[in-house]
Amino acid sequence: MIEDLTGKVAVVTGAASGIGKALAGRLAAAGAKLVLADIEDRPLEEVAASLRADGAEVVAVHADVSKADDVERIGMTAMDVYGALHLCVNNAGVAGGGLAWEIGLDEWDWVLGVNLYGVIHGLRSFVPRIIESGGGHVVNIASMAGLTSNPGMASYNVTKHSVVTLSETLAIDLSLTHPEVGVTVVCPGWVRTQINRSERNRPERAGSALDHDAGTELQFDLRSIVDGLIESGLEPDDVAEMILDAVRTGRFTVLTHPEWQAMVTRRVDGILAGEQPRLDLPTN
Ligand SMILES: NC(=O)c1ccc[n+]([C@@H]2O[C@H](COP(=O)([O-])OP(=O)(O)OC[C@H]3O[C@@H](n4cnc5c(N)ncnc54)[C@H](O)[C@@H]3O)[C@@H](O)[C@H]2O)c1
Repeated sequence: MIEDLTGKVAVVTGAASGIGKALAGRLAAAGAKLVLADIEDRPLEEVAASLRADGAEVVAVHADVSKADDVERIGMTAMDVYGALHLCVNNAGVAGGGLAWEIGLDEWDWVLGVNLYGVIHGLRSFVPRIIESGGGHVVNIASMAGLTSNPGMASYNVTKHSVVTLSETLAIDLSLTHPEVGVTVVCPGWVRTQINRSERNRPERAGSALDHDAGTELQFDLRSIVDGLIESGLEPDDVAEMILDAVRTGRFTVLTHPEWQAMVTRRVDGILAGEQPRLDLPTN
């Protein structure tokens, strides 16, 4: 928990777009000093420049969060430039799709590399520095896909379920050893960002996940469905505000969409009853 963010040092990964960009803006407005990281240089520089123009202290670091050395460089930058680290937001993420048995190994490597190893690298590089700085808070961005199992997105679901349990275990580990460090895991439903354009950051070797849908029985157009849901999603600024509130109050879970919550209850009830999983949808 960090009640007052004035003068605190915060790292945000995936800060060039969407939720990360909105968070960077909110943190700067709250008086935090920022280290912003992303794989996309030009939009990252634009975000950093506009926050600096408003008077914020901002350093931009090019980093691919799937690479441990890159993430370590983010942590080192915070200590070199500001001499401390108090808050980290492990936010960078990509969406992959396809039927569970058709997703290629390169695609698994990419999605697990960014969404899961990105957070693992973040914990290894940032948590020791937050402890060294006297305490603070860790925020991991998971998803409602970390609490449910929707079709056509096995690799994404696996990473987000992993980030939820990683965050729970981290919180317990820290409560037993370093209670001065708090943890929040964020599980958004649809948010109006560029997540449906994740292929822009897909390495050549990972191919195109959408190709895998061709010729299968599941002939729905994932892309147009997801595009529509994202377009009608929450604004990133509203999600960023919920996250800042959780950091200030020490709240563990942030569930941004109340209409998704009954799906979690139905999943747990189904697990306890030994039922086969079924397609489930948010209800109002
Ligand atoms: N938008 C949604 O509906 C939604 C819902 C639930 C969870 N999330 C999660 O929110 C987080 C932020 O995504 P967003 O929706 O803002 O999407 P976005 O695409 O707008 O932003 C993601 C950012 O991560 C960066 N990134 C991608 N790969 C990277 C890498 N290897 N290293 C460093 N940076 C990388 C991108 O360049 C981009 O700036 C992700 O973890 C995503 O899974 C999003």
